[in-house]
This record gives sequence, C-alpha cells and structure tokens, in this order.
Amino acid sequence: MKKKVSQLLIATALAASGAVPVAYASGDDAEIQARVDEAKAASGDFLKQLGGAMKREMQAGGPTAAMKVCRDIAPGITNDISLEKGWKVTRVGTRVRNPMLGLPDAWEQRVLQDFEKRAADGEKYDAMTYFEVVEEPAGKSLRYMKAIGVAPQCLACHGSAGQIEEPVRAQLKTLYPYDRAVDYKPGDLRGAVSIKQPFND
Ligand code: HEC
Repeated sequence: MKKKVSQLLIATALAASGAVPVAYASGDDAEIQARVDEAKAASGDFLKQLGGAMKREMQAGGPTAAMKVCRDIAPGITNDISLEKGWKVTRVGTRVRNPMLGLPDAWEQRVLQDFEKRAADGEKYDAMTYFEVVEEPAGKSLRYMKAIGVAPQCLACHGSAGQIEEPVRAQLKTLYPYDRAVDYKPGDLRGAVSIKQPFND
C-alpha cells in the first residue's frame, strides 16, 4: 500500500514537470551514449574556459572586473554552444541572481535536489552528472546536467555580505535587485550546467 502511494507521487511529480522519462530499446544505447559524451565534453570545456577566465580576471582586476565572467562570458559561451549544436545550453542555480538565464525548471530542480543528496552520501560535485531521455509535447530530448560546486573564489560575489566588498555589493544591488545567489559556502552546490538536446527524428 505504502509503495503504491509513493509510486503515485513519483508519477504525479513527473507529470507535473511535463517531462516523462522514456524507455528506449538497447539498439538506441550507442546513440544515447554518444549524445551524453558530447554533452559531457561541451560542459567540461565550458567550465574549464570559465574557470580560466575567472582566475585571470580576478588576478588582473579583482571582483569588479571579474563580474563580466559570470555576466557576459558565461552566457556568451552557452549561447554560442547552443547555436552551434542546436541544443539549449544554460547554467542554472540553486538560488538565482539572473532569473532569465538561471532559474531551473521542474526537471532541473529535481536533479539539483538529487545532486545535493548524492553529495550528502559522499559524492563530489566535480564529477557529478545526470542524464535522462524525456518525452514532451514538442518531442523527445536528451537532458543532461553537470553539477557546479562553490569554490572559495566564488565567495567574492556569491558569499555572505561580509565577503562581498562594497563596490561589488553596490554593483550587484543595482544590476540584480532581487539577487538570491548569495550566502553560499565552499562545498555548497551552486547550480549546474544544463543541456537539452532535441532529437531530430
Ligand atoms: C565577480 C563576481 C562573481 C564571481 C567571483 C562569481 N560570480 Fe557567479 N555570477 C555573478 C553574476 C553577476 C551573475 C549573474 C549573471 C547573469 O546576469 O546572467 C552570476 C551568476 C552565476 C550563475 C548562474 C545562476 C544565477 O545565479 O543567475 C552561476 C551558476 C554562477 N554564477 C556560478 C559561479 C561560480 C561557480 C563561481 C566561482 C567559480 C562564481 N559564480 C563566481 C558574479 C560572480
């Protein structure tokens, strides 16, 4: 009886998210694996470029200069990959500064919650990923997420009020009056790279 209720809850949650996982025949496995590998390579490259740019800009001009890495460079790269590949690539957050780009949908929220559970069980965010094939009214897609943990260098803009220097605080307040992406601590889950690849058939 208990089991039935929890299955029902899962089914309801999936239906509410508008995304239902699809069972696929084993003949599709190679294609799925190729798609996952491509998503993994793209998100790995993206995070590497971003990490490099953040380090460079923080060293060169501190957090006021490095603001452009999260504000311009990151969305610029995700936009480029989206156009080049025909995917939707974005960064989502557990708490969000820019709702336009960063607010997770129902599926992404579930995966973020699951990432936090996996971390509580000892898994590291560095290598944490998840994928699922989903069927929606507009068609089938492969969805992929790669976790992003909070590193010490993120606190200059995502830490506590005391960790964010005054000029940066003022800038953030002007640009993002509803900013929720603060008070993070090293080791927290900051969010994820999220990739949605439509199947063309
Ligand atoms: C110099 C300031 C600054 C630093 C340092 C910084 N960020 Fe950001 N971050 C921002 C800004 C500004 C935005 C909003 C970008 C936008 O407008 O899309 C943002 C947005 C994000 C988002 C998208 C979700 C959201 O809240 O809108 C993620 C994910 C993120 N940052 C992760 C990180 C990580 C991980 C680090 C450390 C490696 C980091 N940031 C360091 C300023 C910063």
